[in-house]
Amino acid sequence: MNTLAGKHLVLGLSGGIACYKAAELCRALVKAGASVQVVMTEAAEHFMTAVTMQALSGRAVYTSQWDAREANNMAHINLSREADAIVVAPASADFLAKLLHGRADDLLSLMCLARPIESVPLLVAPAMNREMWANPATQRNVAQLKVDGVHVLDVGQGDQACGETGDGRMLEAAEILEDLQAFFAPQLLAGKAVLVTAGPTYEAIDPVRGITNLSSGKMGFAIARAARQAGAEVTVIAGPVSLATPRGVRRIDVRSAQDMFNAVQAQVAQSQIFIATAAVADWRPDTQADQKIKKDGSGQTPQLAFIENPDILASVAQSDRAQNGALFCVGFAAESHDLLAHATAKRLRKQVPLLVGNIGPSTFGQDDNALLLVDAKGATELPRASKQDLADDLIAEIARRL
Ligand code: C5P
Repeated sequence: MNTLAGKHLVLGLSGGIACYKAAELCRALVKAGASVQVVMTEAAEHFMTAVTMQALSGRAVYTSQWDAREANNMAHINLSREADAIVVAPASADFLAKLLHGRADDLLSLMCLARPIESVPLLVAPAMNREMWANPATQRNVAQLKVDGVHVLDVGQGDQACGETGDGRMLEAAEILEDLQAFFAPQLLAGKAVLVTAGPTYEAIDPVRGITNLSSGKMGFAIARAARQAGAEVTVIAGPVSLATPRGVRRIDVRSAQDMFNAVQAQVAQSQIFIATAAVADWRPDTQADQKIKKDGSGQTPQLAFIENPDILASVAQSDRAQNGALFCVGFAAESHDLLAHATAKRLRKQVPLLVGNIGPSTFGQDDNALLLVDAKGATELPRASKQDLADDLIAEIARRL
């Protein structure tokens, strides 16, 4: 959900090599429709120029509490009063320590201290060497900052500019953007656990061949992202797809329908919502050859026989928890024609309260889709839009029905 459109953010940079990511973040925020006022510490100016940040934000950058451009000479008050949030990225170890103690000897720390604490949230994206991050002093500061109401984003893990590897690098700009989108999103599913199946399944014939369905997994991953941003704890069980895992979503990769069935059975007891978007293969070959089946030149084709795969959605929807309302189940139907009739029949057959129809061939692999929501009361169309927008709408519809 693009919750950043129209928001006014103060983006604070303290000193650290991750300032280069702040440039990208600034650009992404502006692209998402936010207005961005950059404030930099003196240390940040060693890593990034104010000129770059001014060009990317389209606003003059503030670096000093003595800046005479403000008529009342109180930049720390004026800047923070206008903001929907202050985001400090990167937040160095030193800056976190300053925040903790309420020190205010430069514009950025002064502004954070002076912000109206109830109406202007403060988010920080820590960035530092792994030893600095692991140091008890930093960990103590982070814990106390959380108690003080500061939203401390996670740190990334991996190679660091110093040549060491570990925890402490700043999240990527896209990750911070996703966290900010979630921060401003209505928490419609707070406290709920959501289980989503996504993508196709793959049923092996031999080690090099198999049968599968056309499905990119994009709709299911968009739903997982939307549920996460709405405050849910989300697990996606994914067939073979090449998509990045949405931020904050737990992912379990599977291959066959039987694997997906087993993974769902193991997870579903902890969930309150189950959304089956996966295009599960209806049948699998009754045997799998251990070695590649060879073409022998005789013109004879292999004789394949199939057995039916378990119906994951139907089995979950018929469980006691689904039947007594503790688990809300949502099914999908990918059809080529007569969407309303097929979706209505499928809803009754699978015994789910909500079934979402779409025309498969006009959406497979694409970034947009159109949905038909069918429940006991009738059908509602969600007209063609991006899969992410449709996923946001679907999550709102599910929350309304809970
Ligand atoms: O029966 P059909 O495949 O058309 O039903 C589609 C819906 O059922 C989707 O929600 C899909 O994820 C789910 N399904 C399933 N297990 C199967 C077949 C379909 O969960 N074996």
